Amino acid sequence: MNVYDAIVTRRSTRSYSSETVDQQLLDKIIDAGRMAPSGGNSQTCHFIVITNKDLLQKLAKMVKNCFAAMEVTDGMYKSIASAITRAKTGNYVFHYGAPCLIVMANDKNYGNNMADCSCALENMMIMANELDLGTCWINQLRWLNEDAGLLKLFRELGMKDNERIYGSLAVGYPATEDGLPVRKPLPRTGNEVTYIK
Ligand SMILES: Cc1cc2nc3c(=O)[nH]c(=O)nc-3n(C[C@H](O)[C@H](O)[C@H](O)COP(=O)(O)O)c2cc1C
Repeated sequence: MNVYDAIVTRRSTRSYSSETVDQQLLDKIIDAGRMAPSGGNSQTCHFIVITNKDLLQKLAKMVKNCFAAMEVTDGMYKSIASAITRAKTGNYVFHYGAPCLIVMANDKNYGNNMADCSCALENMMIMANELDLGTCWINQLRWLNEDAGLLKLFRELGMKDNERIYGSLAVGYPATEDGLPVRKPLPRTGNEVTYIK
């Protein structure tokens, strides 16, 4: 697959098989993330790669409980409102049961923290597509990045005191019939372009 094809056929995967991802493939994806540019060449992204099943389940439960304790309010970002509504039903797994979650942390006092994590996340999504793996950007841990329980857990997992989470990525084999990611691009109806010649 050339770069353009890998970019335009990347889609979000929200249903995963339980098949684990080979460490070599994960290393390649993480390498693609680490090679992303960073503001002022800061290289302060911290990739916390979770493949431990018990921990993934524990995280899913903690995140569900956090959202279930919140209330939907007027004008709330629709994805947060949807997380709250779904968590209250009790049946909510924020990482869609993917066998790997790459959590992106960065220095909370660095102005390009989310931008740098975003560059790394996009690189990893494109790399994973080339490797026939599905991915989905998972934002819940960013929304909850000041939650005391989650902060404590992530500090125990190696996140530093000055770091917060700015995004995460579910990675795994899609639960499709052929095991391949769905690659039909969504039409672009937004993302305006203005040429000035
Ligand atoms: C900043 C950002 C946050 C996102 N957060 C989530 C999320 O928390 N959960 C989710 O299922 N998808 C999330 N997505 C994926 C988008 O919903 C998805 O990219 C969009 O609907 C277009 O679909 P596609 O990725 O299949 O092209 C996020 C994407 C971005 C760029």
